[in-house]
Amino acid sequence: MRLVFVGPPGAGKGTQAKIVCAKCNIPQISTGDMLRAAKAADKLPQDLIQRMAAGALVPDSVVVDLIDARTRGVDCDRGFLLDGFPRTVPQAEALDAMLRARGFKLDRVVALEVPRAMLIERAVLRRTDKRTGQIYHLKYSPPPPGADLEHRPDDREDVVERRLATYEAMTAELLPYYESLRILNRIDGVGSVDQVSDRIFAVLGAAK
Ligand code: AP5
Repeated sequence: MRLVFVGPPGAGKGTQAKIVCAKCNIPQISTGDMLRAAKAADKLPQDLIQRMAAGALVPDSVVVDLIDARTRGVDCDRGFLLDGFPRTVPQAEALDAMLRARGFKLDRVVALEVPRAMLIERAVLRRTDKRTGQIYHLKYSPPPPGADLEHRPDDREDVVERRLATYEAMTAELLPYYESLRILNRIDGVGSVDQVSDRIFAVLGAAK
């Protein structure tokens, strides 16, 4: 199964991707996580660090190259879930070409939809365990005592606002693109994590 999760910052892509990937036994590939890992390893150029900190996208060619290399891994033979990629039509076209050249195609694109005010609350109160990558929320899924928590620098409210504006401007054409290919499913992302994953498994036609 080759899947894409699309949605604004804080929509729950990472949270739901982990659940689906564990169940379907496919890797979760998050361009945001890959870029943050490159930054932590001092391998991300300064201009890209600044773009991320400002809530802007990095250039298409950077993420396309990351995805091209990562999806060649043997763990991707059975499929994968792309979380946060593609975000623009040129990225989507590059992904289509990449998969076509390997004799594959995307099976489904899941777009998580959540009202703006809720997105800001979800992102600002998000905390991630540095050791396990587990995603928590200070109000809705509080971390256990002793967790080694990280607050993403781009989860400050002013940066989240800018990321939302970037999403709206850059991703506006992406959903119609996938709609025209008839592989898009819009999912209501409001409700408990369990309720949202029930909706996703229903459209994937997979048992939870
Ligand atoms: P990225 O890391 O991809 O960030 P994002 O898309 O903005 O998404 P988030 O990680 O903020 O949110 P999420 O939807 O995964 O939500 P989560 O599950 O954590 O990108 C970061 C940056 O990298 C970009 O700004 C850009 O600079 C760059 N970049 C990355 N990809 C790129 C690309 N393709 N092209 C160009 N640049 C790129 O949930 C959020 C919170 O809500 C958590 O606390 C969670 O516990 C909570 N929560 C989740 N579900 C629920 C629920 N149902 N109820 C209550 N709380 C919930």
